[in-house]
Amino acid sequence: MTTPTSISPTQAVLQVIAGYWTARCVYVAAKLGLADLVKDSPKSAAELAVLTGMHAPSLYRVLRALASTGWLHEDSDGRFGPTPLTVGIQTGAPGSLRALATTELGEEHYPAWGNVLFSVRTGGLAFDEVFGMPNWQYWAGHDEHAQIFNKAMSEMTAIIEPAVLRICDFSGFKTIVDVGGGRGTLISSILRAYPDARGIVLDLPHVIEQGKQLITGQGLDDRCQMIPGDFFKEVPGGGDAYVLKWVIHDWDDERSIAILRNCHRAMAPGGRLFLVEAPIPPRNEPSLHKLMDINMLVMTGGRERTEAEYRSLFDASGFDLTRVTVTPMELAVLEGVRRDA
Ligand SMILES: C[S@@+](CC[C@H](N)C(=O)[O-])C[C@H]1O[C@@H](n2cnc3c(N)ncnc32)[C@H](O)[C@@H]1O
Repeated sequence: MTTPTSISPTQAVLQVIAGYWTARCVYVAAKLGLADLVKDSPKSAAELAVLTGMHAPSLYRVLRALASTGWLHEDSDGRFGPTPLTVGIQTGAPGSLRALATTELGEEHYPAWGNVLFSVRTGGLAFDEVFGMPNWQYWAGHDEHAQIFNKAMSEMTAIIEPAVLRICDFSGFKTIVDVGGGRGTLISSILRAYPDARGIVLDLPHVIEQGKQLITGQGLDDRCQMIPGDFFKEVPGGGDAYVLKWVIHDWDDERSIAILRNCHRAMAPGGRLFLVEAPIPPRNEPSLHKLMDINMLVMTGGRERTEAEYRSLFDASGFDLTRVTVTPMELAVLEGVRRDA
């Protein structure tokens, strides 16, 4: 990232430190649902403390810090109301990332990042070092937290799905398989846009359980199968399009190739592969995903990759990379066609 020139290096360091303090205050706001509570009428710290079961004087200090950074607005009566930023952590608001802020700044990612030096020193997984197990196993045993994580994935999908639907032409595909498809947010929008298509979502059992409700709520039970499983063992067969959004970046090359080879094996001849990932630009070019890469380093053992690296993965798994279309959110659709032996 380029060094800002309008501020001194000292100020830049202070801004970074304060950025992490602000992030933790935003976590408190997201976790407690403060944006929801002040949405219709401003409230005092005492009122908010009663509503959230917090210690009023301490909560006041967090509210004041949030107001000083634009996340709330304190009026002359000491009541806190919303600002344009507050909507970003308000439940159900369009584009809201309340669940993402709660999970990324909260109880799992934050301790893993706290141990980032472990990963840098050893190449090992900071998350596993802190929690004693891989993150996917952890989520399976912590339902309440897994719900927040899976909802966070849906929030991000909701932001990107219009671009995915614009870029990908799914017409002509009879069966679209979303591998590691989470709660089924993306497949639901694809199936709504293509009423003749059928969908399959493969994910871990606890995620599929959470997703079933969503699919039923969308009235898609008769067109979408929710299959619990392990993509390292098997991927549902017979699909003519396989979508993997934000899945391959969770894994190292060897395991990524194992997943993609299972897709290759499962798909009908001439089948298509659609990866939604964020190819990172070279050298100094700013990119959110160069930081997401560190998230992968500490959380999953995966990595963000350049387009050339994705091309190698496709090649090693029996696919030709035929098209890369970048969306405004830095994410891209990498489209491949199955090379038949
Ligand atoms: C980063 S999330 C992306 C979810 C979804 N594709 C999205 O973008 O919203 C990765 C997904 O892979 C799933 N996953 C992890 N290991 C898996 C495995 N061995 N078999 C199937 N799914 C797995 C996780 O449960 C999670 O839903």
